[in-house]
Amino acid sequence: MLPFHQVVKSEFEQVNKLIIRQLHSDVGLVENIGQYIVDAGGKRLRPLLVLLIANSFGYKGTQHISLAAIIEFIHTATLLHDDVVDTSDLRRGRATANARFGNAPSVLVGDFLYSRAFQMLVGIDSMAIMRIIADTTNIISEGEVQQLINAGNPDTSEAAYFDVIRKKTAQLFQAAAQTSAILAGVSPALEESAKHYGYHLGMAFQLVDDVLDYSSNREELGKNIGDDLAEGKPTLPLIRAMQQGTAEQRTMIRSAIENGALSQLTEISDAIHSTGALDYTLARAAHHAEQAKACLVGFTDSSERQALAELTAFALQRKS
Ligand code: IPE
Ligand code: IPE
Ligand code: MG
Ligand code: MG
Ligand code: MG
Repeated sequence: MLPFHQVVKSEFEQVNKLIIRQLHSDVGLVENIGQYIVDAGGKRLRPLLVLLIANSFGYKGTQHISLAAIIEFIHTATLLHDDVVDTSDLRRGRATANARFGNAPSVLVGDFLYSRAFQMLVGIDSMAIMRIIADTTNIISEGEVQQLINAGNPDTSEAAYFDVIRKKTAQLFQAAAQTSAILAGVSPALEESAKHYGYHLGMAFQLVDDVLDYSSNREELGKNIGDDLAEGKPTLPLIRAMQQGTAEQRTMIRSAIENGALSQLTEISDAIHSTGALDYTLARAAHHAEQAKACLVGFTDSSERQALAELTAFALQRKS
């Protein structure tokens, strides 16, 4: 548990219990794979966001517990699918579900989690929330497909990169924050603030994720380094290094993106450091984190609001 989880400790425990309960399936393999990925933990930032936003707006009901679990199920489903398409074999410090059980069961259990999330959503009985979550899962899928199209293309623009991360990652943070605000019944202005907070936090979060893929290590990150390069993903550190580097560096990076080659990971890491591309990516993340924090101005002062502010700093400093 991270320090800001303490603010909503007992509700967070209820979310974790609900997650376990809702993983139930009479089909043994479904439950096994679901439990396998959920047992490994993860930071549970998105459910945390739901709880903090609802409480910061004085929500007194119990549906935020369910909403938090729904959002985490959708996140977990995207991870099961993402690790198949990224051919990743390490997540949360252990073998990915696809490495352990195979691609087919991972995809199918991802579908189970998506559909379980929608079954639970029916219980919340809010058309406004339903609409946002339905749109969100659709947008995430588009983002992942757009990224697939960009893979191997060194001419991918910064704008195309930002569009992908908005869809594949920021959208879910945004939906978590906005739906939680709707649950709490706040004014349209505060709902917008919550939504934009989630969006900017999610953008910062993915920018840092793309930095960590080059600058961290597998022990700390719990994922393999270089997964993005191995798939020829033109993430911002590479796009910027190509813009700022020497002709030689540019040629090397272009060829690594085209061929998805990990063999030059060390030289490429050196290039994205020396060209300032990592710092540039972090600066873009920092700007989003600042904007997220600025969205909190209209929130009443509370320990939850404080935790939401700390979360923007965490998104930048995180090591895993
Ligand atoms: C991983 O998300 C996927 C991205 C959007 C980068 P997290 O880093 O939140 O994953 P867990 O749930 O903590 O493992
Ligand atoms: C995560 O992107 C996006 C989604 C899960 C939809 P990444 O592919 O960078 O996430 P990690 O690094 O595998 O967690
Ligand atoms: Mg991945
Ligand atoms: Mg991916
Ligand atoms: Mg990543």
